[in-house]
Amino acid sequence: MRYAVLGTGIVGRTLAARLDALGHEVVVGTRDAAATRARTEPDRMGTAPYARWEAEHPRVRLASFAQAAAEAQVVLAALDGQSALTALHAAGADALAGKVLIDVSNPLDFSAGFPPRFDPVDTDSLGEQVQRAFPDARVVKSLNTVNCEVMVDPARIPGAHSIFVCGNDPEAKKSVSALLAEFGWPAAEIVDLGGIEAARGTEMLVRLWLTMMGRFGTADVNIRVVKAP
Ligand SMILES: NC(=O)c1ccc[n+]([C@@H]2O[C@H](COP(=O)([O-])OP(=O)(O)OC[C@H]3O[C@@H](n4cnc5c(N)ncnc54)[C@H](OP(=O)(O)O)[C@@H]3O)[C@@H](O)[C@H]2O)c1
Repeated sequence: MRYAVLGTGIVGRTLAARLDALGHEVVVGTRDAAATRARTEPDRMGTAPYARWEAEHPRVRLASFAQAAAEAQVVLAALDGQSALTALHAAGADALAGKVLIDVSNPLDFSAGFPPRFDPVDTDSLGEQVQRAFPDARVVKSLNTVNCEVMVDPARIPGAHSIFVCGNDPEAKKSVSALLAEFGWPAAEIVDLGGIEAARGTEMLVRLWLTMMGRFGTADVNIRVVKAP
């Protein structure tokens, strides 16, 4: 499969590396490939400059958002939450039309420092905004509720724990569930929450996740959904 991972931060890199290791063709999307390669400082999460990572992952190509999305069969958005729509508009509605678009971004606003605020929140979600802005894309919100290392290697956390999918296209959710299985998520722990409006809940869950990370001192933390049969 040909994947575009839109996003050069730690999440995009982690997803791209895992997809590459699984034998997929991967293009990472960025605003300006030359500018991204020329960076010498870590990003705000302390992630090392992209060029260093690129040297260790020679099969993963870097391209503009538009070029990456145009070439791909499936697109993952691992974007700064406040800029995700801008980046996806740069990718272009035509390039996204008809494709599964997996949105792992969270609408975090760091403008007032840490902890971040959420915008949108409660009455709307980034997942819904993306689906509204790109009605021909098959948007599935997933993976945004766990740390990126856990996204691609759920066994980092022992025992059963849950991962969510939501979106308006049942076939798109099926194909995302298949990708989650490739990453190592057991079918029984993939929880389909329904339409894309469920992204309101999964995005707000990140508030709880941040609290748990602080409380337990590890990013290898998740929750499990348990219900009566
Ligand atoms: N850290 C985790 O484990 C984790 C877990 C779950 C979800 N998430 C979510 O995953 C997403 C990615 O996180 P991250 O830390 O890897 O990266 P990030 O710093 O949140 O986002 C990096 C990407 O956003 C793009 N971007 C930034 N400002 C932009 C602008 N003004 N216009 C267009 N694009 C812009 C950057 O483009 P350039 O490439 O051009 O710089 C880059 O590709 C976030 O929404 C985060 O909340 C993170």
